[in-house]
Amino acid sequence: MTKITKAVFPVAGLGTRFLPATKAIPKEMLPIIDRPLIEYAVEEAVMAGITEIIFITSHTKRAIEDHFDQNFELEAKLIKSGKHEYLEKINRKIFENVKFTYVRQKSQKGLGDAILQAKHLIQDEAFAVLLADDLILNDPSCTAQLMSVYAQKNCSIVGLNIVPDKDAHKYGVISSDDVGHAEQTFAINDIVEKPTENAPSNLAVVGRYILSATIFNYLENLAPSVGGEVQLTDAIKLMLKDELVIGHLYKGLKFDCGSRHGYAQAITHLAKDILAN
Ligand code: UTP
Repeated sequence: MTKITKAVFPVAGLGTRFLPATKAIPKEMLPIIDRPLIEYAVEEAVMAGITEIIFITSHTKRAIEDHFDQNFELEAKLIKSGKHEYLEKINRKIFENVKFTYVRQKSQKGLGDAILQAKHLIQDEAFAVLLADDLILNDPSCTAQLMSVYAQKNCSIVGLNIVPDKDAHKYGVISSDDVGHAEQTFAINDIVEKPTENAPSNLAVVGRYILSATIFNYLENLAPSVGGEVQLTDAIKLMLKDELVIGHLYKGLKFDCGSRHGYAQAITHLAKDILAN
């Protein structure tokens, strides 16, 4: 089994729920206090051992590229004015040896289509997928936890959390014969995107995955479904016929920063430490 070194970050979505803030600014660049949302997930991936980050981006997301690049003019000005403490903040050591690659998704056809754009960069390795909207706080991180399960099971792993029945319609929801066991891992039987009624369980998929490269076989030629979008969930559903896919109930505190409610909760949570000092 090869070590997972590549992570795909789909960031080409329109961020409609955050208009007008996202009219000119990518949703992923919205600040969580003083750091953009995207930096939390990139840090999580890098700390879990990822050395190549592949952003699936669009023409409105150039600020993300700039954020992970050097800004020589700003660095020179900070040095000149003796504000050395900010240098590490804008040029983080942990990202020094990380390769950042950007691929454009030409039209926003959905998450499944976004991931398919990375096919030529992944070849036949398993890879991580992180949706930066889901800010997940824990040590070890959610990605590190999924990687540990991958190291034991050598198959695709999907991050799961428990949601109230009333919220199941917002997520991909899995079914498994293992539900009810004390175990944190579940062999997935079925997966349904945003079930309108009779959700198969209250185990919902979060924005963290380890995927076998065979996922591309299922993503290719996949028709759009829920919301008129090409859904990753549909590709995983097809994959289940041929391969084991495990759901892992990770440990951690998750904020859905793609929604106003979750974004406000994340800021409130992190602001507590600042206000206490
Ligand atoms: P969302 O469903 O949250 O969509 O996408 P969105 O466009 O970002 O936000 P809203 O719903 O309009 O407010 C889930 C993830 O998939 C990416 C998004 O960037 C986000 O990380 N995505 C979605 C793409 O990269 N391309 C797409 O075509 C759709």
